[in-house]
Order: sequence, then structure tokens, then C-alpha cells
Amino acid sequence: MDRNVVVTGASRGIGAAIARELARRGDNLVLAARGRDGLEDVASASSSTRVHIVTADVTQRAEVERIRDEAIRVFGHADVWINNAGRGIVRSVLALSDEDVDEMIAVNVKSALYGMQIIAPHFMERGRGHIINISSFLGRVPVATPRSAYSAAKAALNSLTANLRVDLQRTHPGINVSVVMPGLVATEFARHARGSTGSVPPGAIGSPLKPQTAEEVAVIVADLIDHPAAEVYTNSASHAVAARYFADVGLFESEVPSRS
Ligand SMILES: NC(=O)c1ccc[n+]([C@@H]2O[C@H](COP(=O)([O-])OP(=O)(O)OC[C@H]3O[C@@H](n4cnc5c(N)ncnc54)[C@H](OP(=O)(O)O)[C@@H]3O)[C@@H](O)[C@H]2O)c1
Repeated sequence: MDRNVVVTGASRGIGAAIARELARRGDNLVLAARGRDGLEDVASASSSTRVHIVTADVTQRAEVERIRDEAIRVFGHADVWINNAGRGIVRSVLALSDEDVDEMIAVNVKSALYGMQIIAPHFMERGRGHIINISSFLGRVPVATPRSAYSAAKAALNSLTANLRVDLQRTHPGINVSVVMPGLVATEFARHARGSTGSVPPGAIGSPLKPQTAEEVAVIVADLIDHPAAEVYTNSASHAVAARYFADVGLFESEVPSRS
């Protein structure tokens, strides 16, 4: 496709799978994360296209600016910016510390806010571009209570994404802003969650959504670039679960066994 696509959190999991899928489709890539080894592995598996890696911590605004600057320096411009980096938590509401909440907001909300604020002026200048924020179904329907502050952060991300989309639709209709809400995806996400003991949190057991692979999610994200939409659930079962939730929250909560 020969587009220039920036992917954060591309050293493993969903971000790495998106990178491999986009490389297969012929896009040029800027891949960012903190771990250089993972980025290099992904880049070497994507050797059919031009790939530039940037080690960066996306909770730091200046580092997200550096990702953009590197993308423009290497490829001249960016067409798509995917805010994918994120982290979970295993902590119920009553156990949350200030540090827990601060980290969930920093890595799941501020990181993407920086990405949106930093790339939007470039897209506005060009009159086109696509911002994709990888959120979570938990940001729409909080079905896993141990992920509490993560769900809350992803809900905030959904809201920021929608607000930016509405603003840009009015002034810059050539710019798309999308949010992607995967359900459970088989990655190392649970193991890397703050407070994780390595096991799956109890709230995820018996979830109404069956796990997907990172590759399945990556195909959906790649198709979203070709056919922009405001919101995407990657799991086809999510629509029905969300509809049931909003129809009667109390009833839903009393019926879903995963809400431990
Ligand atoms: N897996 C799921 O079940 C699931 C479900 C719904 C939504 N999601 C969302 O999908 C996205 C990807 O998750 P995943 O499952 O692929 O998780 P993962 O395997 O843990 O990968 C997370 C990625 O984010 C990067 N990252 C984390 N903190 C970062 C930071 N401060 N700066 C830069 N990069 C950072 C990690 O790289 P480094 O550690 O090298 O920095 C890694 O590449 C996240 O936004 C997650 O919330 C996942």
C-alpha cells in the first residue's frame, strides 16, 4: 500500500502483529516501544518494507514528539498513527493506590493523548491522515473488576477519541479518528499487567468473549485503515454484549458470572 504508518507498543503482542500485517500489505513502518530487542525482532520479520524503529516511553510527551519527528525525518510524512501501547492492572477499586491510577492514566490515556495532539497538526496541514487508538471492550463494558482502573482509563480514551473525531470532522473531514475495542486477546498482556502474579485475573474467567489471536486483531486494524470507521469491536460477540449491558446494567451485572 506504500503508506507510512506509526505503531506504538510494537515490540510484542497486538502492536507487533499489526506491524507484521501492515508490512505484508506493503506499508512503511515506524515502530516504537521501550524494548529495542523486541522492536528489532519485529523489524527483521517485516523486511519486505521499510521499517524504522524508535525506542521511546510513550508516557513522556517529549518522547512521543521524537517518534513523530523521526517518522517525518525518515519517510517525509505520516499517513496513519496507531496509539497501541498500553498496560493492564490487577486491582479492584477498593485496593487502588494513587500510583496505580496514575500509571493507568499515564500509559493508557496520556500516551494516546500525546499521540493525538502531536500528530494532528501534521495531518491538518496535509488535509488527511488517520489516527487509530487501540482501546478495549473493557472501556465500553466493565466486565472484569480486577482490571478496574484499566477499564476506567480505556473509557476515558474512548471519550477523548470521540471528542477529537467530532472536532476534526467539522474542520478537517479528510482526517479519520478511530477507536478499536478488542475483547480478550492471547498476548502477554495479562502477565505484564501491574500487580499481576502471572495468572489470568478472576474477572476474566468465564468472560462472554472468547479470546482472539493478535493476528486476527491485526487484520481488523489493517482493514480499518482501508475502510475507516469511527469504532470497531474486533470480536463479533461484543455488539450483543454491549447491547445487553446498555439495555439494563443492573440485570447484566447480576447475570454475568465474570463480575467477581
Ligand atoms: N491482550 C488483550 O487481551 C487486550 C484486550 C483489549 C485491548 N488490549 C490493548 O491492546 C494494546 C496492546 O496490548 P497487548 O495485548 O499487545 O499487550 P502486550 O503484549 O503487553 O504489549 C504491550 C506493548 O505496549 C508497549 N508499551 C507498554 N508500555 C509502554 C510505554 N510506557 N512506552 C512505550 N511502549 C509501551 C510494550 O512494549 P515495551 O514493554 O517494550 O515498551 C508492548 O510492545 C494495549 O493498548 C491493550 O490495552 C489488549
